[in-house]
Amino acid sequence: MVTLHALLAERLELAVRPLFPEAKIQLSGTADARFGDYQSNVAMTLAKAARRNPREVAAEIIGRFDSSGLTLPPEIAGAGFINFRILPERFETQLTSLAGDARLGVPVPPRPLQYVIDFSSPNVAKPMHVGHIRSTILGDALARIAEFLGHNVVRDNHIGDWGTQFGMLLVGWKTRMDRAALERDPLAEMERIYKEVSAAYQTDPATQEAVRGELLKLQSGDEENLGLWREMIRLSQGQFDAIYGRLEVRFDVTLGESFYNPWLRDIVADLKEKGVARESEGAVCVFSDHTLPEKEDPFLIRDENGWRDNPALVQKSDGTANYTTTDLATLQYRLKTWSPDEIIIITDGRQQQHFRQLSAIYQRWQPEAPAKLSHVWFGSILGDDGKPFKTRSGETIRLSGLLDEAEERALVQVTEKNPGLPEAERREIARIVGLGAVKYADLLPNRQSDYVFSWDKMLSFQGNTAPYLQYSYVRIRSIFRKLEMAWTFSAAEVSLAEPAETALAKKLLQFGEILPTILDDHRPNLLANYLHELASTFHSFFEACPVLKSEGTTRETRLLLCDVTARVLEKGLFLLGIAVPEKM
Ligand code: ARG
Repeated sequence: MVTLHALLAERLELAVRPLFPEAKIQLSGTADARFGDYQSNVAMTLAKAARRNPREVAAEIIGRFDSSGLTLPPEIAGAGFINFRILPERFETQLTSLAGDARLGVPVPPRPLQYVIDFSSPNVAKPMHVGHIRSTILGDALARIAEFLGHNVVRDNHIGDWGTQFGMLLVGWKTRMDRAALERDPLAEMERIYKEVSAAYQTDPATQEAVRGELLKLQSGDEENLGLWREMIRLSQGQFDAIYGRLEVRFDVTLGESFYNPWLRDIVADLKEKGVARESEGAVCVFSDHTLPEKEDPFLIRDENGWRDNPALVQKSDGTANYTTTDLATLQYRLKTWSPDEIIIITDGRQQQHFRQLSAIYQRWQPEAPAKLSHVWFGSILGDDGKPFKTRSGETIRLSGLLDEAEERALVQVTEKNPGLPEAERREIARIVGLGAVKYADLLPNRQSDYVFSWDKMLSFQGNTAPYLQYSYVRIRSIFRKLEMAWTFSAAEVSLAEPAETALAKKLLQFGEILPTILDDHRPNLLANYLHELASTFHSFFEACPVLKSEGTTRETRLLLCDVTARVLEKGLFLLGIAVPEKM
């Protein structure tokens, strides 16, 4: 179905185009009902460019605007805004279409796009910790949203399975491994040996020697070391998969860094040949081409003596490649394999510099490539003290333990509210509520800001939380359980009489307007906030408008509003990777 926003934008366009053939139409929903339902500043922008009076331009546009069947006569406000109020009966017909629409009002995109989303991407031999949840949850939500919008998505887990850390791990594996500990908890044991060897490496020349030797053997294809390396990957992948299973996150491909090794040499040669990279002190680097202003140039850095070079290394002086080379090979492979419109890579904010360089190299290396490369970065999770979230003893928090704790805490709450339910059922509800709470708390803040991890806040049934949204859903479902007969909606019976009914209908119709905008800047928090507004609008409606005690068309309309609200809540939460229970 077509959204009200699209219908209105089209009418506005028809009014503006004859006056200003080049105009870009701007139209946004209003937060304040005093300004109508939608507002446009198009007259102000156009008047400024034409050096005319904006209110006059607005009046001219309104003079040509066809409001029939859609809005009341538009009004001019302030310096030249045009305010539009949708006809009440138009909300009724839109709501009727919405109720019958499996896409819940979300329009089909003009052309389905191909996305590659690189997310989660943990490193082998290190347990996934609390920081990984952000990349995993954010990537999963963006993938779900893109798919529901009608796009194609490849979910690619770019695990860190190659690099100098394997020198340390191999030495540790051969000299310090505790077999029994490895069997109990492979990642913990691998992390322990890694830490021990890397500590010795700082001071002990013999360890340094051994690490270099094992790494070289691995890199040159030594069978024994390759076998151990594969074992480390296998053990790690098992534990990653256990976490993905719990989080209900899936991947289409898992192509780790090592997958790209065969292409690295060619990439470096190609970069040199195209004049993008050059030799410098035995290494191969990409330097600034001085086409960007200094402040925006990722290959320059400023110190007390002014701007100096900050090149990107693509081959070290010992001939080995690095993270940047691998990312370039990855880029090349993705372009060839999937012809994507956009590649989205999700990591924490500390990799911004790396990806700014990567984007710049990409532009110089493959100026014709149509794919957009987006680095979607996020801030840190903090503890109460405002420092990175750690255990009491200062260790990083393992994701598996965090998820256990979420479920346990949710179980306490569910048991308090519903002591009569059988334990298995309480546990299942607690699983859904606990995971939902953690995911939602992570998706709600602007992704670039740090947030403070708070169990009490995220598990609260009040406020902007997953349990509040899940509870709203459960409440609506319970209304339908009270009906004697299964309810089906008949399209002839919609009448919005009360302001609270119209307000809810209007909110529901915004789902289809908000969802497509989320991918513009990769911000699932817009969806989270929308769902919270929807639930609050529903609760105001539910207080003002009795449902089961009303009659006739009023009752049918209210049941319809309840039903669509539950469906939008369920779908919206699903798109954030969050399930809903039927009872709570
Ligand atoms: N494994 C990396 C890390 O843990 C993230 C990889 C992100 N993806 C990429 N193509 N660089 O920091």
